[in-house]
Amino acid sequence: MNTELFHIQDPKGHEQEIAHVADILRTGGLAVFPTETVYGLGGLATSEHAAKAIYEAKGRPSDNPLIIHVAAPEDAEPYAVTSEIYYRLAAQFMPGPLTVILSKKETIPHAVTGGLDTVAVRCPAHPVARALIEAVGAPVAAPSANRSGRPSPTCAAHAIEDLSGRVAAIIDGGECEVGLESTIIKLEGDKGILLRPGAITADALSCVCEVSIAPAVTAALAENERPLSPGMKYRHYAPHAPLVLLDGAQDAVLRYLQNESADPAVGILCYDEELPLLSGKATLFPIGKKEDLPTQARRLFAALREADTHPALTKLYAHLPPPNGLGLALYNRCIRAAAHTVKKID
Ligand code: TXA
Ligand code: MG
Repeated sequence: MNTELFHIQDPKGHEQEIAHVADILRTGGLAVFPTETVYGLGGLATSEHAAKAIYEAKGRPSDNPLIIHVAAPEDAEPYAVTSEIYYRLAAQFMPGPLTVILSKKETIPHAVTGGLDTVAVRCPAHPVARALIEAVGAPVAAPSANRSGRPSPTCAAHAIEDLSGRVAAIIDGGECEVGLESTIIKLEGDKGILLRPGAITADALSCVCEVSIAPAVTAALAENERPLSPGMKYRHYAPHAPLVLLDGAQDAVLRYLQNESADPAVGILCYDEELPLLSGKATLFPIGKKEDLPTQARRLFAALREADTHPALTKLYAHLPPPNGLGLALYNRCIRAAAHTVKKID
């Protein structure tokens, strides 16, 4: 398949191209588009055919449900059973990097929800995503635009790498502002369960409703445990060189890394401040300053992809992020990339 590429940072002046990509989606085709979190692989959310095509293009197991993207929170009405809490969350955090799981209506095929009776609803903030969904005039189902198992794409080049030739169009809207996928909260009555941490933190959500954090956010699933979110059971983002997370006092971890950095087979996802202190033979992937979690969130997936372009590396190290605030989202992605391998450093 020939993939058309468009460069659209701002929908203004690009109405024709957006209408063209919207036509592709409306007629059952697939297109990659930017959101403020990561790039999405879009298809018409009301179409079983489009859902199947998405799973196939991604190489994704079809029991892992898709998020439907709407242009405004109330646009979810025909597709999901909304509630007062949904609208309170929407008033605070939509458009933005939040996904809410609600009971689904008949209008959404089971192929989209992986057979579940619930549906994930998100109203993205990115102007290109919003313009595209509005032009389609229906919700757009979109998982992250990576091949299954790879880190989510935070720029068009990543999506091109993974999906060129497998989708009809890719819109390059520049680098994603957040860099980690949306926060997912499942509503049960007036309570919320945090299924995936993201830029909207648990603390921010708990200003609107009572929130508990699903155990799988921080811990490995027990064998045979049924996850609340099917996505939790899949190994994600795993770089080809096994990743080890280092947990300990800053100076102790730095000393450990200084030792290891003599080894040319080692790669280190380090803080920017550590660059001049780790001048061995190791390959360094700076992800931002120690205290600058937003930059680390923006760079993490690109760093994991970059590490995979160095076939000589046999071991990767990174700092274990602090498990609170935005750190919880980084922690969650890192422990999955590391398959829960954490080394204590004294
Ligand atoms: O930021 C994002 O959310 C991006 C952009 C493109 O919007 N999308 C994204 O989609 O990350 P995806 O498919 O890569 O991740 C969606 C996650 C999966 O882990 C899936 O299992 C979970 O959401 N999910 C979707 N529908 C669900 C449902 N009904 N119940 C529980 N989990 C659900
Ligand atoms: Mg994904």
